[in-house]
Amino acid sequence: MQILDKSFEVFITGDEIQKEVKSLGETISEDYADKEVVFVAVLNGAFMFAADLMKTITCDSAISFVKMSSYHGTQSKGSVDELIGLNIDLKDKHVIIIEDIVDTGITIDKIVSFIESHGVASMRICTLLFKPSSFQGKNYPEYVGFSIPDAFVVGYGLDYDEKGRNLDAIYQIRN
Ligand code: IMP
Repeated sequence: MQILDKSFEVFITGDEIQKEVKSLGETISEDYADKEVVFVAVLNGAFMFAADLMKTITCDSAISFVKMSSYHGTQSKGSVDELIGLNIDLKDKHVIIIEDIVDTGITIDKIVSFIESHGVASMRICTLLFKPSSFQGKNYPEYVGFSIPDAFVVGYGLDYDEKGRNLDAIYQIRN
């Protein structure tokens, strides 16, 4: 399949994804059976994963969608990161961050420090995809759908230059 200037081939089928998402949801529901969980889903990439995962969650839960944003401050040089969209008070809550992919871990480390600053009771990371060979972060994901090699992937929420998010399978770049 062609997306813009690059060629991609199927890497994980839609059926394989759905099976894994269901299994992740069952595990989380068991682990948090007697607790209330606040899911914090990171836009844009995690929108599809979050929607499917939430349908499999049976424990008491709420969800908030957030986005990392960087802006150029007026006082200092360089950009400042902020987490926008959080509309639930996380104090003393059990939080699970939902990500589409953890690659170098830089993004998730930033998100974790924002979340932790809210005084949460506990915090875990759930990611559909994890690239262990490129990971250099401090915060390992506890719930991982698929560990994959370090190659660019697209589909099921993940984009190549904003294209391909709608695909129901995950495609890997063809070299
Ligand atoms: P990080 O390297 O873990 O900070 O990942 C940063 C962001 O890059 C992720 O949240 C994704 O949005 C994006 N990303 C990393 N790897 C891929 C990929 O293979 N395909 C599409 N987006 C990716």
